[in-house]
Amino acid sequence: MPQEYRPRRSCLAVPGSSQRFLDKARGLAADEVFLDLEDAVAPAAKETARRNVIAALNTGGWGGKLVAVRVNDAVSRWAYRDVVEVVAAAGRGLDAIVLPKVTDPGHVVWLDLLLGQIEQDTGDERGRIGIEAQIEDARGLAKVDEIAAASPRLRALVFGPADFMASIGMASQRVGAQPVGYLGSDAFHYPLLRILVAARGHELAAIDGPYLAIGDLDGLREAAVSAAALGYDGKWVVHPGQIDVVNEAFSPSQNDYERAELVLDAYRYYSSAERRGAVMLGDEMIDEASRKLALVAAAKGRAAGLRRSQRFEPPAPGGSAEDAPRGEGLGQPAGQG
Ligand code: GLV
Ligand code: MG
Repeated sequence: MPQEYRPRRSCLAVPGSSQRFLDKARGLAADEVFLDLEDAVAPAAKETARRNVIAALNTGGWGGKLVAVRVNDAVSRWAYRDVVEVVAAAGRGLDAIVLPKVTDPGHVVWLDLLLGQIEQDTGDERGRIGIEAQIEDARGLAKVDEIAAASPRLRALVFGPADFMASIGMASQRVGAQPVGYLGSDAFHYPLLRILVAARGHELAAIDGPYLAIGDLDGLREAAVSAAALGYDGKWVVHPGQIDVVNEAFSPSQNDYERAELVLDAYRYYSSAERRGAVMLGDEMIDEASRKLALVAAAKGRAAGLRRSQRFEPPAPGGSAEDAPRGEGLGQPAGQG
């Protein structure tokens, strides 16, 4: 989990070639917008899109959203000018670069170095602009651990199902949906878990890719809830109508959030004031591992704007843990000294 948790529940793709979509995206409830110079932009429109994106970044007005630009991949002919022109002219309006089709850690190192050169030249803060690396083919997945370790600028690993499906020869064209005929329960389980483990091993966010059937909100919900249950922080959205479903899927429930905050407070109190490493909260034992789980749910809940309605109250002096917080039944677990 990153130190400073920034919500990325919904990451909205906005084609840089469409002024109308760029204008509209400002008012939408996505946690992140990324202005796309890659696959949503035809080769003939790349230069216009770059100019539009620079203007959109300089105009600002994105509220508290994370703002990113997806450049073309590191071995394409557009990539260096995407980075140099956009960051030199509008880097201050930018939180991250999304780098697609990362197949080798060298791609990330290249981008890190180039960003550093531009920052020295413009006098902007060194290292502020982050990198979100898309893992979208067999080669990238095979090297995902090295990729995740390639730069301190990395903020997130992003699964790219469309390119990945093509890369491994999956017999389906329904991007993000389960392929018909597959007998397992989730054809994306392996890449999703592989990417998640690499991301967490380097304290990065893990983001699922798009679900392209924009009219199928039930299918989108199913895919998003499943990725959230696995541990993902968010998912791309390719249409404004997908944002609410995805934000909801990646927000903890009010109950889970309240419980997480109570666990953190209770554990902090009992592990310091009473020097106990394991206590009961309701009918469940909590310990250091529970605290770590609670940290994640609390961070996600706060980031999603949830508010707590319950407070932890330490027991009165001389009272026992059983009298403790608001009848939650904190106490000594059976068999613990
Ligand atoms: C996204 O870039 C994808 O390929 O799914
Ligand atoms: Mg792709």
